Amino acid sequence: MTTLRKFVLFSLLLVSLTMSAGSVTSPNGNIELKFSVDNTGRPVYEMTYKGKAVVKPSFLGLELAKDKHASKGMNETDLMDHFQVVKEETKEFDETWQPVWGETKYIRNHYNELAVTLNQIIETPEYRGNGKNNGLALNRQVREMIIRFRVYDDGIGLRYEFPQQQELNYFLIKEEHTEFTMAGDHMAWWLPGDYDTQEQETQESRLSEIRNRMKEAVNWGNSSVAVFSETGVQTSLQMKSDDGLYINIHEAACADYATMHLELVDAKTKALTTQLGGGSNAYTPNPKPSAWPLPKPFTFVSHLTPDATGLKGAMQTPCETPWRTVMVSDDARDMLSSNLILNLNEPCKLEDTSWIHPTKYCGVWWEMIVGRGSWHYTNDYPSIKLDQIDWSSVKPNGTHKANNENVKRYIDFAAKNGLDEVLVEGWNVGWEDWANMWKRDVFDFVTPYPDFDIKMLNDYAHSKGVKILMHHETSSSTQNYERHMEKAFQLMNKYGYDAVKTGYVGDIIPRGDHHYSQSMNNHYLYVVKEAAKHHIMVNAHEATRPTGLCRTYPNLVGNESARGTEYEAFGGSRPDHTCILPFTRLQGGPMDYTPGIFVTKLSEWSNNTSWARITIAGSLALYLTMYSPLQMAADLPENYEKFDDAFQFIRDVACDWDDSKYLEAEPADYITVARKAKGTNNWFVGGKCDENGHLAVIKLDFLDKGRQYDCTIYADAKGAHYETNPQAYTITKKTVKAGQTLKIQEAPGGGFAMSLIAK
Ligand code: NOJ
Ligand code: CA
Repeated sequence: MTTLRKFVLFSLLLVSLTMSAGSVTSPNGNIELKFSVDNTGRPVYEMTYKGKAVVKPSFLGLELAKDKHASKGMNETDLMDHFQVVKEETKEFDETWQPVWGETKYIRNHYNELAVTLNQIIETPEYRGNGKNNGLALNRQVREMIIRFRVYDDGIGLRYEFPQQQELNYFLIKEEHTEFTMAGDHMAWWLPGDYDTQEQETQESRLSEIRNRMKEAVNWGNSSVAVFSETGVQTSLQMKSDDGLYINIHEAACADYATMHLELVDAKTKALTTQLGGGSNAYTPNPKPSAWPLPKPFTFVSHLTPDATGLKGAMQTPCETPWRTVMVSDDARDMLSSNLILNLNEPCKLEDTSWIHPTKYCGVWWEMIVGRGSWHYTNDYPSIKLDQIDWSSVKPNGTHKANNENVKRYIDFAAKNGLDEVLVEGWNVGWEDWANMWKRDVFDFVTPYPDFDIKMLNDYAHSKGVKILMHHETSSSTQNYERHMEKAFQLMNKYGYDAVKTGYVGDIIPRGDHHYSQSMNNHYLYVVKEAAKHHIMVNAHEATRPTGLCRTYPNLVGNESARGTEYEAFGGSRPDHTCILPFTRLQGGPMDYTPGIFVTKLSEWSNNTSWARITIAGSLALYLTMYSPLQMAADLPENYEKFDDAFQFIRDVACDWDDSKYLEAEPADYITVARKAKGTNNWFVGGKCDENGHLAVIKLDFLDKGRQYDCTIYADAKGAHYETNPQAYTITKKTVKAGQTLKIQEAPGGGFAMSLIAK
């Protein structure tokens, strides 16, 4: 066969692909999803809401990496084109489940599903010579991939599935090319796409302005900046279209896979970052010309976090990707009440969950963050080696806060105020040179400093009905943590700790890896699973942004994974920050935001000149608007004692709920929510607003008809302001009933909190 005939045969195969299309609508009919395969065999989907385009026709596929093991069965043909539809199956699913903890007692999981089985047929001519009968034969490869769509009333999820099969056992992902073509130049609330930090301030801009805003959006002083593109952003990405649609892109159930970012194609895009070799640690070092046409402007293309080799994923079939989610509604409140992400996760895998509980805590923490005390015990060593120091003969620095006396003070405060636990940071040896030194053996997680009597303090706490909350800062030395973890958890069991706050400050060790890579995501989940065996709840800071895995492993009670209250001590966050997070970061799971700062001007009690951009009433509101089963009262006991009447709300407020109603919401402007405390008839309402203030109008139609409630309202006083007058609040008590409407003025950077106790 001549070269020409080979070419003709190959293209004939392409042309002969049959075009096929399927569609599925949401249970209420508002969302329609269409799927097809184009004439080159590329999978395409599109999505509408009430007839309006949400995602315009967009391609799906995965680009595979070349590998030295290809000859041993590592597959490297891209999963991008040459697909034919083999089967389309639809089904309806409707189930109601009960979370171990959550915003509501029951969650309905109701969707219509379309599962498309695709065959990728690649026929390549192959020279076969045996001496006598030389010639060319067709080498035919058939690989199966399923794309599964779940269409809910509030959005869709889609994922790729790879059944185990002869032609596809192992493969390496160079990049996932899931596209989301937006219908216009939407407003977006975005964070710079970054492999190592999620702690930048959210930007508010049109899609077309992202490129110009990128440089100023990055705080380059943050300890682990790794941005990859001038138009790269993180999920969850909240948007609003000019015709009033709220659209949110995120992911669900990200396990054994890298965290997804989005790279926007705009008018200036010449090639996607991945097509140029995949970022800083490119696995394929040479720029590769774009193999597929560049998508249209306003298209987001998935961009996975690489590992130390630049690879994005090592897969073994059977396996699947996380769900890629697009939420949509014409009512912003639906973005906040949506359970789409949780519903797309697997049901709980822990048999016994009786030991998992909502927790209110205070901590030996804020005074170190603000700079009045230290985590470390001595100033006398330029560096330390854990196995070469006799701690009993070391000179203490006098600023170490995890000392017996101070910890007892916090335990007393917790006991007096009904708080469940006391976080103690800086209790274990190693803090003298803990961060950013590429130090592998940084902590052992079992040796306390000499002034922290672990047995005495736990006994003391337990005698008062309080627990100590463990702290394991890993300094991102992950192998070190994995080596010590079992012993560390045994120590926790021995002394009666039931929760750990972990941390991943600094660059990842082993060097070159990134916080959100497949290998790191596996590490975080490994910790959660191992902790569960020891009946330990986990609150991981700096770990990957959550994607609803807390449904499957409900001992994952919290994550930071965004800019938390600590930044109020590092220069501050904008007042609208907490009116954005519930639309973005909180979509995947609760945040350990550590609210409750009452003395906002930190110079009142420290040398720190930073200040929190919030009023006291606004701080109280966060216990409702920032949903979490784990809530901290972050300020110092002595600061709370000055405002004990306002602190009453923190004593009273629940952190587990039978029901939640979002009453008012607009991204970056205001959020008002009412929640019914678990197992009671009592409701708590919170409203938080941005720098402009907000008049909350609260219709009490969620209350039981005919019942009276003792209502206490903690509101901003007249003239309150986050900058000039943050501590001006009023406390009003009255009796209310269903049907009434309350109007509460929130000050700039303020809010309100309300308890409604059933009579
Ligand atoms: C960063 C965490 O977010 C913070 O809460 C913690 O105190 C420090 N790391 C030290 O572990
Ligand atoms: Ca605003």
